[in-house]
Amino acid sequence: MIVGVPKEIKTAEHRVALVPAGAESLASDGHTVLVEQGAGLGSGFGDEAYRAVGAEIAPAAETVWSRAEMIMKVKEPIEPEWSRIRKGQMVFTYFHFAASEALTKAIIKSGCVAIAYETVELPSKELPLLTPMSEVAGRMAVQEGAKYLEKVFGGYGILLGGVPGVLPAEVLILGGGVVGTNAAKMAAGLGAHVTLLDISLDRLRYLSDVLPPNVDLLYSNRHNMLEQLSKADVVIGAVLLTGAKAPKLVKRADLKVMKQGSVIVDVAVDQGGCIETTKPTTHDQPTYVVDGIIHYAVANMPGGVPRTSTLALTNATFPYAKKLARLGWKEACKKDPSLLLGLNVVEGKVVYSLSRRLAMIPAEVYLADSSLRIVNVYGLEALAVRELSHQSRSAVLDQLARDVYRPYASFWKGYMGDEARFREWAEASLFASDHPVNTNLAGILNLRLDSLFTASANWLVKASGRRPRGVWYIVFGPGWTDMGGFTDGTMLVDLSKVEPDREAFELKLAHELTHMVHGASTGGTDPDGGTVLQRTISEGLASYAAYVYAAGRRTPAQSVGYTDAEWSWALAHERELTTAARPYLGSRERADLNRFASRSDRLVDAGPPAVAYFLGFRIVQAYVAKHGAASWTDLLDLPVRQVLSGSGYPL
Ligand SMILES: NC(=O)c1ccc[n+]([C@@H]2O[C@H](COP(=O)([O-])OP(=O)(O)OC[C@H]3O[C@@H](n4cnc5c(N)ncnc54)[C@H](O)[C@@H]3O)[C@@H](O)[C@H]2O)c1
Ligand SMILES: [Zn+2]
Repeated sequence: MIVGVPKEIKTAEHRVALVPAGAESLASDGHTVLVEQGAGLGSGFGDEAYRAVGAEIAPAAETVWSRAEMIMKVKEPIEPEWSRIRKGQMVFTYFHFAASEALTKAIIKSGCVAIAYETVELPSKELPLLTPMSEVAGRMAVQEGAKYLEKVFGGYGILLGGVPGVLPAEVLILGGGVVGTNAAKMAAGLGAHVTLLDISLDRLRYLSDVLPPNVDLLYSNRHNMLEQLSKADVVIGAVLLTGAKAPKLVKRADLKVMKQGSVIVDVAVDQGGCIETTKPTTHDQPTYVVDGIIHYAVANMPGGVPRTSTLALTNATFPYAKKLARLGWKEACKKDPSLLLGLNVVEGKVVYSLSRRLAMIPAEVYLADSSLRIVNVYGLEALAVRELSHQSRSAVLDQLARDVYRPYASFWKGYMGDEARFREWAEASLFASDHPVNTNLAGILNLRLDSLFTASANWLVKASGRRPRGVWYIVFGPGWTDMGGFTDGTMLVDLSKVEPDREAFELKLAHELTHMVHGASTGGTDPDGGTVLQRTISEGLASYAAYVYAAGRRTPAQSVGYTDAEWSWALAHERELTTAARPYLGSRERADLNRFASRSDRLVDAGPPAVAYFLGFRIVQAYVAKHGAASWTDLLDLPVRQVLSGSGYPL
């Protein structure tokens, strides 16, 4: 195989993806190693060093990209590199796809095989190709902290380890993961007194075994943190919440309790930082001062020590690179599940592992300024069913009961019954090979429900000035409906029934969110609440809102769920329909409501089902024709009798 190593061109990136020792090993395996001129210079490896072990030096990046079957890099490809990527070419590097949609699109378009360092994962959940950079950053954090404590750099003027007869500095570390542990070892080794805070008791227990006695371990809460903050000379931020921004543990006002001239090194800056006053800096200008406290927040700390970082990184990446070169990506990923998790995009298809995507779905999110709560129960269900598929059914059912039923018991009780009933249903449905959780999970994940909800809710807020309020549960359930509401206002999406069609789903959401707003403003007070007329206007209004939202992509017929034939029939027989409807308008009988709103019921034998949608839509259309295009939003607060009279529609 031809393995290519281009020179990194991202600003201030001095690392290189392959060192001469690695090149030698690949060459002796019979591969051709193609290194761009000067690629290793920033890390102290001249072209000669590569040539001496059998690598070819290519004068230009184009040559490397156009000849290599596998590209090894450090940083994600940046724009000038995108057009050089070839179809079928393997690209092994950090990608951080979540950070850039443009990059994701470019990689999909290129048709290459993208294997991302940051998602290679061991069975222990460790990320072996991220760990070395965290080790570097953790150790470096202490060195930088010590430096900026010196007077010339603006610091308090104390020596980290003290001297005999003088107390050492106090180092406070927030988070005891890879960064925090490495920082603690380093600071303790230099003689400082160290206090490390973490929220994981298991982690603290482990650390108490491996860290030296001048490191105190404390459970992380606000009280403990503030107490330590007032004593600290150096604070190191090393907190991480997987898949989320770092929590802001230290608030701006908290800086007041700290000593003037003390130093904060916020290593977590790449995830937003865990100190409120953190903003990213660069190696050129690494620090700034807020309220007398020196802040160091370089987002790519390892870049400051490229030689160490290159060696640390390539030690970790090289074994995988060797496998990829020897076996090709297909075989290599088949043989090594850790590498399989590194596979992100294959020839235009995103293949990022399902379980990882599931694990990234937050259990709950708030939208439209926290008036709307979305509970993503389906992610937990799918995770149990798909992740544990190698385990016994009863183990999966236990997990479902624990993670899916019990935390949302009142919802499930209302929808399908008690826990025993839930288990019975789950066993009969979720394990069936033709259930969507087994056949169509990727399609459902590709809907990106969160973005659909956000789009519809934001649109409604903007168009109507009203916020939908309430709770939505998204579940794999018995499929009695695809989307709808309970009498207490709780809303439901049942993915067992939903067609994974992004646009259709989005328009349904606009429809249902409109119901929420309408119900909230008129539900309790409208004298016609609960009648056929109210249901008719309500469905018409919701369908009309979805029609407006679709902005020309949907016909009125589609907006009310009619075929074109049904719609034309209804238009042609509109008088007949209104005459037949009139006697029922004030009724609250269930049978009458069904006659108007159920998809399996008809008002007129020869006519279409669910005429409430048609009639309601026509009423709103008539109203808008009289009062202007934006006037449909006024109807959200009007009693339904006034809507009807204001529309002039002959009903
Ligand atoms: N700036 C840089 O150059 C650079 C380099 C490498 C890593 N990082 C960043 O450093 C951060 C830490 O990385 P890591 O590899 O150590 O992660 P990690 O997952 O190994 O450790 C994070 C730790 O934070 C703990 N934690 C979570 N919430 C906490 C809280 N409220 N209080 C105290 N502890 C809490 C977790 O229990 C965990 O032990 C990440 O944001 C990472 O991206 C930055
Ligand atoms: Zn409706």
